[in-house]
Amino acid sequence: MTRPAAAHPLEAFAFADQAFAADVIDGLSRSPKSLSPRYFYDALGSDLFERITQLPEYYLTLAEASILKARAAEIAHGVPPGGVLLEFGSGSSRKTEFLLDALPQLAAYVAADVSETALDDARRRLATLYPSLDIRPIVADFSHPIECPPDLAERPRIGFFPGSTIGNLLPADVIRLLLVMGRSLGSNSRLIVGVDIKKDAPRLVAAYNDSAGVTAAFNLNLLTRINRELGGSFDLTAFQHRALYNAQEGRIEMHLVSLKDLSVKAVGRQFHFRAGESIHTENSYKYAVEEFQGLAISAGWIPRRVWLDEDRLFSLHELIAP
Ligand code: TRP
Repeated sequence: MTRPAAAHPLEAFAFADQAFAADVIDGLSRSPKSLSPRYFYDALGSDLFERITQLPEYYLTLAEASILKARAAEIAHGVPPGGVLLEFGSGSSRKTEFLLDALPQLAAYVAADVSETALDDARRRLATLYPSLDIRPIVADFSHPIECPPDLAERPRIGFFPGSTIGNLLPADVIRLLLVMGRSLGSNSRLIVGVDIKKDAPRLVAAYNDSAGVTAAFNLNLLTRINRELGGSFDLTAFQHRALYNAQEGRIEMHLVSLKDLSVKAVGRQFHFRAGESIHTENSYKYAVEEFQGLAISAGWIPRRVWLDEDRLFSLHELIAP
């Protein structure tokens, strides 16, 4: 039996994830080339990411945990009895424990994440640690407004968005996201956001180019994924992980650099690379305290307290809904 010619190039392939296929075509056709960081997180990618957060060079996790540990009571102060903690992209919910320890007055903890397995694991662990806590996992992408369960809708909310995940967005998208989060949280709410601070370039670069090569493996896994899921022919030894600090933009950039001229097949097409040409895979913006507060104000939030760790490496911002 003959099959009619596909009307659209993507229809010729039974790719499990059409959006991934379309984004790869789009990103590799651009100049400069880019790929969306949302595709880092397959099973191996999520594993590698957990390992990044435990690297000695990756100061962010320890610094943020030290703030939460030292300041949990202060942060929790003012959360009314019967309030709801809503975490955006809760992942393993490990950092949340510092807040939960200090928030016995909570009515519920709503954990929103795209990964059902991550939510399941976290729920199981937290249920043992906090037997009387009402835990509500929601499979949801935080870039869209999150609907709280109806029985909790009238309760005052406190949002939690740690990990400097907000730094992975362009500043204009930060404003958009903070607006959307305002909608998820409602009036009479507050939001606690973890933000990495500008510092000397060598320290920043080391955090994204560790000596054990875990971040390199994480970045290169994107090509492995394209090979496996989109019929790609990337030779992993012909590409190198690179992290650089773009001081002008105030951001770490992650790239995959082609070491030679080559041609690669993916999603049924050919893409050409010159020696030294790179695929831009991720940004991680770093903000002075006032810079981030400026973005928050643009999104209609009122900045209140800011907590830093002892070495002033990382910041935790408190934003109040007007
Ligand atoms: N948001 C964190 C950061 O920018 C974690 C993170 C996201 C990350 N993507 C990454 C860390 C890629 C290393 C590499 O630091």
